Amino acid sequence: MRGNQFRQGAVKEVAMSERARTIDTLLDERRTFAPSPEFLSKARVTDQSLFEAAAADPEGFWAEQAKKYVSWYKPFDTVLEWDLPFAKWFVGGELNVSYNCLDRHVEAGKGEKVAYHFEGEQGDTRAITYAELLSAVCRLANALKKLGIKRGDRVGIYMPMIPELPMAMLACARIGAAHSVVFGGFSAEAVRDRMNDAAAVAIITADEGWRRGGLVPLKRNVDEACEDSPTVKNVVVVRRTGNEVPMTEGRDHWYHDLVEGESDTCEPEHMESEDLLFTLYTSGTTAKPKGIKHTTAGYHLYAMFTHDLVFDIQPDTVYWCAADVGWVTGHSYIVYGPLGNGVTSVMYEGTPDFPAKDRWWSIIEKYGVTVLYCAPTAIRTFMKWGPEFPQKHDLSSLRLLGTVGEPINPEAWMWYREHIGGDRVPVVDTWWQTETGGIMIAPLPGVTVLKPGSATKPLPGIGAAVVDEAGNQVALGGGGYVTLTKPWPGMLRGIWGDDERYRETYWNRFGTQYFAGDGARIDEDGYFWFMGRVDDVMNVAGHRISTAEVESALVDHPAVAEAAVVAKSDPETGQAISAFVTLRAGYEGSTELIAELRNHVAKLIGPIAKPKWIAFTPDLPKTRSGKIMRRLLRDIAENRKLGDTTTLADSSIVADLQRRATEEEAKEQ
Ligand code: PRX
Repeated sequence: MRGNQFRQGAVKEVAMSERARTIDTLLDERRTFAPSPEFLSKARVTDQSLFEAAAADPEGFWAEQAKKYVSWYKPFDTVLEWDLPFAKWFVGGELNVSYNCLDRHVEAGKGEKVAYHFEGEQGDTRAITYAELLSAVCRLANALKKLGIKRGDRVGIYMPMIPELPMAMLACARIGAAHSVVFGGFSAEAVRDRMNDAAAVAIITADEGWRRGGLVPLKRNVDEACEDSPTVKNVVVVRRTGNEVPMTEGRDHWYHDLVEGESDTCEPEHMESEDLLFTLYTSGTTAKPKGIKHTTAGYHLYAMFTHDLVFDIQPDTVYWCAADVGWVTGHSYIVYGPLGNGVTSVMYEGTPDFPAKDRWWSIIEKYGVTVLYCAPTAIRTFMKWGPEFPQKHDLSSLRLLGTVGEPINPEAWMWYREHIGGDRVPVVDTWWQTETGGIMIAPLPGVTVLKPGSATKPLPGIGAAVVDEAGNQVALGGGGYVTLTKPWPGMLRGIWGDDERYRETYWNRFGTQYFAGDGARIDEDGYFWFMGRVDDVMNVAGHRISTAEVESALVDHPAVAEAAVVAKSDPETGQAISAFVTLRAGYEGSTELIAELRNHVAKLIGPIAKPKWIAFTPDLPKTRSGKIMRRLLRDIAENRKLGDTTTLADSSIVADLQRRATEEEAKEQ
């Protein structure tokens, strides 16, 4: 009985009607795709042996992988110290991640192999070999050291998608400074808050970035952030667009001036396994972003291991992850996974429709890309544009496709397979989070029978479950909360500066299981079908945005008294942000104010957090204890056919809100 009750509860709680659509579709989703003989003829893993070895002796399994994938200066003595919820992996070991990404490939004779085929939005290109990347990283590492940046410091990175971005990350890793990359689409305020939280000593940025032909004022944003970031003593600026930007004497340095004349060798620091490699901020249920901590050995091993197996890496793989390095997907699958594995990648700076809607497909044809990894939101956009754009290009080099970031609906999965994959290549839907460091639930393409819309099952060595409120696994066929049941090398080591929040967010709800915040159904074959977040975190185009963060940005505007933000399902971005706003006395709702509020949110957080729809209402529906009844607001946002951007609160919305709040309260009593 409990399971049934939960199922109803879960369906109510899982934000968005996306879930309703997904569940409906899932019920009749019976198509399966076994690995094809063509794929199997080259596949790296074709049997259950890894799953069996990991199940038989988890620590022995990870020890073996750590020896296989990582080059150590000093071997580790202990595989795992697990003092729940704090894990230490490969204790006693010493290594350097930049050595593992660069030097060892050059030493092995692969210095001339291309690490990145860089494609600028404007059409400029650079092929950077492993040897060239190594010298660039060493020169920058030496320059950073001369600025006084040292092991244990934190360095902010706020850059466009250009090769200097991975170079900056690797230079930090080389000298033992932890980086904190802030997505280039975030605002000055977001940069400032993150730099202050981490007490960063420097920021590496660019003059500007290109985006859809326009300019992103990165340096100006950094200047604004620095006005209020007292710990930042140095700013390093890459010249990208070449436009004039102000430079502050003594604090700001041109990247090209700094590295000129620097030696192209730099002895890597010998780091301990558990030294901090980076922090990356992600949204939770409160307004303050969490600095997720990842350490050296476990994270890097896990990025390489998962990249190698899930993407079935071959010596001639040309791999393209179309995410931004500013998100965890880019950290693990543009930088640390592929470079650790010595793979050739494509890195693209711009948007898919610049200068035309076939840009991605022309890139695949040009470089002979064999593996493409992107987000469902991109696939839905391509579906909308139509198959004629990919059809213009020869995509026959592709042998594997991947997706990440949000649930993929079966229609989009099928479209991707058919129109991009020529109906012949596997599509791997990969579920994971900033916190997990790498892919957790995904197919092994030479082993797993695929079902469109399912991320399938946990990878070897990973324990995941779908549980009810009490933390008990639901029966196959049931739905519930996703938990992770065993420590894994790539797991977060906590939240920067806030152990209590780490416990509270991930470990309080189910005791010994990590609570992921997602809802899922598990089918008769044990396959996971993700349904979205169950907490107050939205997933907009694959980006996690907290309702609380957008609310506090709205309330920051002088006209706003109170705001409630909910997600509304959206055919392209998965979810879109809807805001209900009450105004302070003396202010009137207007189309201009809506535009102003949207811009205000963009300024405080970044354009991705702009509400798509804002309604003014004299009151928000609340319980007696003063809690906003979000479920009601969600229903209203979902049920009404709301226009693209705006609808002023008309009396019917307000009346509806009030009527339903009253009904709800009556039910509670
Ligand atoms: O809700 C899940 C969704 O994205 C969340 C993690 O977001 P973030 O930390 O920004 O990392 C995104 C890239 C790994 C998850 O809690 N999510 C991610 N991948 C999938 C997904 N939901 C369904 N299916 C996926 N494949």
